[in-house]
Amino acid sequence: MTFKISTHAKGFVAAAAIASAGLLAWPTTGSFAADDMAFGPVKPLKVDAKKAALGKRLFYDVRLSGDAAISCATCHDPNKGFSDGKPLSALYPGSDGWRNTPSLINTAYKAAWFHDGRVGTNLNDVTRENITETYIMNMDMRLMQERIKQDPVYVKMFKDAGYGEPSNGSVRKALPEFMKTLTSRNAPFDKGTMSVSAQNGFELFKGKAGCAQCHNGPLFSDDKAHNTGVPNNPEIWSNPVRHTTYVAFGLFQGIENIMNIRRDVGAHIRTHKSDGSDIGKFMTPSLRELKYTAPYMHNGMLATLKDVVNFYNRGGGNDVNKDPRIKPLGLSSEERADLVAFLEALSGDPLTGPDYVWKDKIPLEYPAIENWRDARN
Ligand code: HEC
Ligand code: HEC
Repeated sequence: MTFKISTHAKGFVAAAAIASAGLLAWPTTGSFAADDMAFGPVKPLKVDAKKAALGKRLFYDVRLSGDAAISCATCHDPNKGFSDGKPLSALYPGSDGWRNTPSLINTAYKAAWFHDGRVGTNLNDVTRENITETYIMNMDMRLMQERIKQDPVYVKMFKDAGYGEPSNGSVRKALPEFMKTLTSRNAPFDKGTMSVSAQNGFELFKGKAGCAQCHNGPLFSDDKAHNTGVPNNPEIWSNPVRHTTYVAFGLFQGIENIMNIRRDVGAHIRTHKSDGSDIGKFMTPSLRELKYTAPYMHNGMLATLKDVVNFYNRGGGNDVNKDPRIKPLGLSSEERADLVAFLEALSGDPLTGPDYVWKDKIPLEYPAIENWRDARN
């Protein structure tokens, strides 16, 4: 069986470049059958080695957080596919997470970030959001710049990378440069070494199970938001700190009726449609590297890939806004196992070597610049 899909799959790499250049336009390439779609592999991106090395050190540096206690890697752990293994993320002290920490592998190819797609410009903006949001790293960019300027290692690294003196603007460029190195490699799917079961799973994925309608292109994502009926995570309402954090976020985003609402509205915060039809839509995630990134979905409600496949086989969850393409599939237990084998074949080498992890200690004891107030910026 084939079905017609409107997708950007073929223009994917070019489109990602346009997206990261800050343009919102997304080229449409008309409809074509799933069999024709460019599913992979993920092409490595051009990276400036010195800027990326600087970004790597910053990624593992706790001084980027307000209390100098957490780094990007605290939540985006290389040993867990740059996610954190928890259903709901931890957040800055005094707040607690209401979303699952997404993997950062292949994030540089995306067109819109966060589970609700609320940042649709570029990774530089996403980086700023993670650093400055009170509930994530709670950092004032001016303070961050001063801290970094005190560290002689950074002074040299910024200069060598061609950025001149350390500035918050170049921190926001160097971190994305590092994230551009986090690309999938050597998945059995890309190497042509899939088991027979996984190959059968791929046929189901494109055909009978209908997964490729939303999960397509090299990342297996259409970069759009849909409602699959994933149930709420009750923790967000039973844990007062998580609830308070979500309410604060909701007030800031102008979510209607936030004091009474008992669900994560998802992409609705971008559109605020009065009929509420976008409530409960979340961005289609990439299906690469899932072996490392359990649990799954925007709120970690599904623990294993088997649970995910069973979820879709039942026809997703209950939601008035559920996408009509999510319906009971009637897959046999063998077919479900084939789909799981296929999903597992989309995970490649772990990105845990020195190219991706800053292995040296980052010393925090160095002589302060005496006249730093007068030193030229
Ligand atoms: C306290 C935990 C925490 C820290 C620290 C943290 N993040 Fe995140 N990050 C998250 C969570 C949770 C999300 C998803 C939030 C949402 O969807 O609303 C996220 C989302 C992202 C995304 C979007 C990914 C996607 O696929 O949409 C990027 C990129 C990112 N973080 C990069 C960084 C960088 C760079 C740093 C360090 C400057 C950082 N994060 C620090 C928890 C954290
Ligand atoms: C209508 C579009 C659509 C279809 C069809 C679809 N998905 Fe999804 N998929 C999504 C969206 C949207 C999410 C994120 C939902 C959330 O976070 O609540 C998702 C999430 C997932 C996840 C979790 C990934 C993660 O990192 O958390 C997996 C695995 C997955 N889908 C596999 C499949 C499989 C297998 C099929 C076919 C049986 C399928 N999907 C069909 C849109 C779709």
